[in-house]
Amino acid sequence: MADDLRIEPRDWMPDGYRKTLVRQIAQHAHSEIIGMQPEGNWLTRAPSLRRKAILMAKVQDEAGHGLYLYSAAETLGVERADLTEKLIEGKQKYSSIFNYPTLTFADVGTIGWLVDGAAICNQVPLCRSSFGPYARAMIRVCKEESFHQRQGYELLSTMMRGTDAQRAMVQESVDRWWWPALMMFGPPDDRSPNTEQSMKWRIKRHTNDELRQRFVDMSVPQAEALGVTFPDPDLIWNPDRGAYDFGEPDWSEFTEVIKGNGAANAERLANRRAAHENGAWVREAAMAFAARGQEDTR
Ligand code: 3HC
Repeated sequence: MADDLRIEPRDWMPDGYRKTLVRQIAQHAHSEIIGMQPEGNWLTRAPSLRRKAILMAKVQDEAGHGLYLYSAAETLGVERADLTEKLIEGKQKYSSIFNYPTLTFADVGTIGWLVDGAAICNQVPLCRSSFGPYARAMIRVCKEESFHQRQGYELLSTMMRGTDAQRAMVQESVDRWWWPALMMFGPPDDRSPNTEQSMKWRIKRHTNDELRQRFVDMSVPQAEALGVTFPDPDLIWNPDRGAYDFGEPDWSEFTEVIKGNGAANAERLANRRAAHENGAWVREAAMAFAARGQEDTR
């Protein structure tokens, strides 16, 4: 660890290292899969074939990200079926951000720009995480994430060159998603029970507050170029710090959302449960086909 070497699945590792990796990677995978729902809500209502094709590609990418991450978790000795059960039973988390509803098509752009932008801030350092399979999964995820962010920003800039109503729709969307995007990075460092140990084990390479600050500093010039503002009266450049000062997210809202009391938590889990149950026959057929294939080769 001290020599910044990668830990591989067959290496000895402290039980606590394995446990927190399963926790973080499983919840990361769950986030990717649940994250398909908010944007999926607009697949059948995209305003053009081009927008529908782009959105379809992005939602499919998220499914792939989930599969890479479940595969990385399985190298630690867990089964994705068990992880899915834990998700559906509410025993494992997924990112708070996906419990907010997508009320207008501008949300598809804002999610791409801000949510995937925040994800990039968080995931690029994870490409240097100490656990090999996780770090390698992140390399492919980050390449696709940059397409996700660019398509979102391009969608919004197109709307900003449209009508007053479209510009108002973009600003209203940004007002709704800015604070939840800051909460994606987790609680403040002084209220983060996992950060200190995860930094020591080089699972995390930066703290929650460091990455949140990096995201704010990256987003403000992009908002200015887009012609939108963020709903934070305390957001101001601090020349002494060489960074933006900004207000405090509502951590009571964050706590409620991750406790399951967000606007869309029940819907997201109900959809995931239904997809799992309705898809049981596909899993059974695939297992039967694989078993027959093994018999044929015997
Ligand atoms: N949503 C839900 N739960 C959260 C959270 C969030 N935004 N932030 C923190 N939490 C939870 C933690 O999981 C932990 O609970 P647990 O111990 O039961 O797991 C508790 O709140 C305390 O937080 P900590 O800061 O102590 O926890 P971590 O050290 O694990 O840090 C994290 C939280 C920064 C999210 C870290 O787990 C991480 O970097 N995870 C990998 C990245 C990830 O999961 N991103 C989620 C979004 S994926 C995505 O955006 C897809 C993209 O395509 C749009």
